[in-house]
Amino acid sequence: MNRHSVFALSLTVLVAVFFIPEVHAQYITHGPVTGAVTANTCKVYARTSTASSIQLLVSNNENFTPVVTYHANTSSALDFSAIIQLSSLSSNTKYFLKVLVNGKEDAVRGSFRTFPATDEKGDFTFVTGSCQETENMKVFDAMPKCNPYFMMHTGDFTYPDYMIARNYADSHWGIDSSYRRRYNEKVMKEMLQTIPIDYVFDDDDYVGAGAGRYHINGFNSWREKGHIYYSMPADSFPPHWRRNVIKGYADYFPHYELPDTAEGIFHSFRFGNAEFFVLDRNSAKDYPDGACFKYDSLKRKWQFAPDSSLVLFGKKQMDWLKKSLLASTADWKFIVSGVPLNGACEKLIKAGVKIQQLHWKDWTGFQLALGFTRYWAGYPHERNDFMSFVKSNNLKNIIVISGDTHHSVMDDGTNAGLPEMNASGLSVATTELAKYLKLIGNGLGLYRWNNIWNKGGIGISSRECKNGFGKVRIVRNEFVEMSIVDEDNKTISTFQVPFQK
Ligand SMILES: [Fe+2]
Repeated sequence: MNRHSVFALSLTVLVAVFFIPEVHAQYITHGPVTGAVTANTCKVYARTSTASSIQLLVSNNENFTPVVTYHANTSSALDFSAIIQLSSLSSNTKYFLKVLVNGKEDAVRGSFRTFPATDEKGDFTFVTGSCQETENMKVFDAMPKCNPYFMMHTGDFTYPDYMIARNYADSHWGIDSSYRRRYNEKVMKEMLQTIPIDYVFDDDDYVGAGAGRYHINGFNSWREKGHIYYSMPADSFPPHWRRNVIKGYADYFPHYELPDTAEGIFHSFRFGNAEFFVLDRNSAKDYPDGACFKYDSLKRKWQFAPDSSLVLFGKKQMDWLKKSLLASTADWKFIVSGVPLNGACEKLIKAGVKIQQLHWKDWTGFQLALGFTRYWAGYPHERNDFMSFVKSNNLKNIIVISGDTHHSVMDDGTNAGLPEMNASGLSVATTELAKYLKLIGNGLGLYRWNNIWNKGGIGISSRECKNGFGKVRIVRNEFVEMSIVDEDNKTISTFQVPFQK
């Protein structure tokens, strides 16, 4: 080592000691995740590895002056997590977050934007999607490019019913694990540090055991004397599983006010000149799907014959929805549901019943019927009642956002009844369902796909069937633009819903 090298080395050490800022370590294990955002408030979730005191520093600039500090403690009772309520925020403003754990600053910082003031009109974007179960997380790189105010997650936010255990909801350990897993999803966890989320569970992230429904996986078919026979066992679950799942949501998700947790986790919130009504498809029933098929032993065929007692959302939730819609002063009203509300899906049920004797490898025609009875089209009495309520009260500018299907398709309301974006398949093995349903329907002359979903989607407007999400722009009281976007941030299909005066 020569003299110059010694000098250079000494200089480097000096610079390192005096000028390099302290390197922050990571003390929080999950979060920060922001939810329940309004124009002036929000909630921030964070988790630590041991019982700790948390300071959350909130500022409208990255220098953190001025700053407001919130305090919370984590303990084993809530899996070392805390949800901190922020208030007195300015509307439509970006805020920055720092977290100190036992006085030490965490390397991870967060940010979020408060919502525009109630009734404010502008050009506001949110993103939506459901179903994440694979390693492919490209959608979460694409979503931030839309600069959304928030993500509306419509369920199957991981699949605890098989990723943890069928009975995961039996214990606190199972519920705790399910939220740790959700907040630890690769790429998504970074996105959630800067983009707020709202969420409602669907079926696989509800209680497990097929949520007590007839399940495709438990479905058996066999051939006897040239005929196909089926058995449709519905699994059951003890009531405390459901109580645990709802408590888990209340404890671990930064949620909006829940009007009736005995009935479900349905809720509403305002976003500028729009209002959201988020439905829980798992209302308080032991067997939510009921027996909508009846076996005709003479014809030796199943018939789709749901009686009026079969309801998906249930009376309490429907009463809440109707009352809330009537009271809403928002220009736009979004109904959010885990499952599609599109009434034209009844065509798929009827087509499946028609081809119930068709057998191809493991697939039978009847599975088509069975799969779609879990959507609102499988509950025509409840759905028709709601649609006549909308009509008789002359309610306008209602738009539906839904998930579950593993396909991403849209309808302008001509078929669906209300304009609907069904955005599913955030991270799933295949999103080819729409492509095949179109082929089956058009090929066998059972239905025309365009008479079910008429505004394109993945596998319909695109050759490739990639993962994707929904992007929704609310443009003043002029129009709402709905787009299906794939994981490479390519817009696959888009259309506008004009405002009706
Ligand atoms: Fe799913």
